[in-house]
Amino acid sequence: MAKIIVFTDIHIRAEGQRIIGLDPAARFAQGLAHAARLHPDAACAVLMGDLADTGVRAEYEILRRILADAPWPVIPMMGNHDNREVFRQVFPEAPRDPNGFVQAVRDLEGVRLITLDTLDPSTEPHHGGRLCSKRLDWLKAALAQAQGQGCLVFLHHPPFDTGFAGMDRIGLHNAAELRDLLASGPVTHVFAGHIHRTITATVDGLPMTVFKSPCHQMPMMLGAEGSGHSVPEPGAYGILTTRGPNVVVHFEDFTLPETEVGQSAV
Ligand SMILES: [Fe+2]
Repeated sequence: MAKIIVFTDIHIRAEGQRIIGLDPAARFAQGLAHAARLHPDAACAVLMGDLADTGVRAEYEILRRILADAPWPVIPMMGNHDNREVFRQVFPEAPRDPNGFVQAVRDLEGVRLITLDTLDPSTEPHHGGRLCSKRLDWLKAALAQAQGQGCLVFLHHPPFDTGFAGMDRIGLHNAAELRDLLASGPVTHVFAGHIHRTITATVDGLPMTVFKSPCHQMPMMLGAEGSGHSVPEPGAYGILTTRGPNVVVHFEDFTLPETEVGQSAV
């Protein structure tokens, strides 16, 4: 069995700068400390993109300082708010593929984690994601070399329409192409961020999960246009437990006050 911690949409801002009144760096530090205290046994943590809010060096430096307290290896990923070049300057040791994309494979007990890089600043409208042929070829090889292990695939932009119209417009441009490729491999679950809301789905037979942010969240405004709607609902991270290719997905709202555990009939 392996345990994996998942954070997405951290959106670090420079010292003192807030998002709808929330301090993203303080929120992430709080979430990381919470996960470190309760899950020191995790094998690794995946950070699923939008690590920084504007992609400037100062934001990645703050992130790096906070991550110094992480008790597990960390697998970082790119989101639409990130700047790949600046990120690589501050995190030169971060795994990348032979083409320089922030993509990686990590094999745990009986399961392969595949983390993808959907950042493409050339997409229209801006903030959409795309996996170019180089990245898809790399994924194809990672799936082909899984050697009987189940694969968990992580990417920032969900590869399906969520119903949040404004966010779907800046979704993954070649989602159908990706889903075709995923269907050809031993993929047991797909994980994404970007929306800032907890969502689960089955798309073309593939189970998928979207995680909330540790900071600001998307309000329940299905069909709404625009991509900036944000509310200060509780911050969260995810906990995955795996047994071979099977995975169980948990969601932890770490900003809720801790209360005494009572007993009741369930
Ligand atoms: Fe985000």
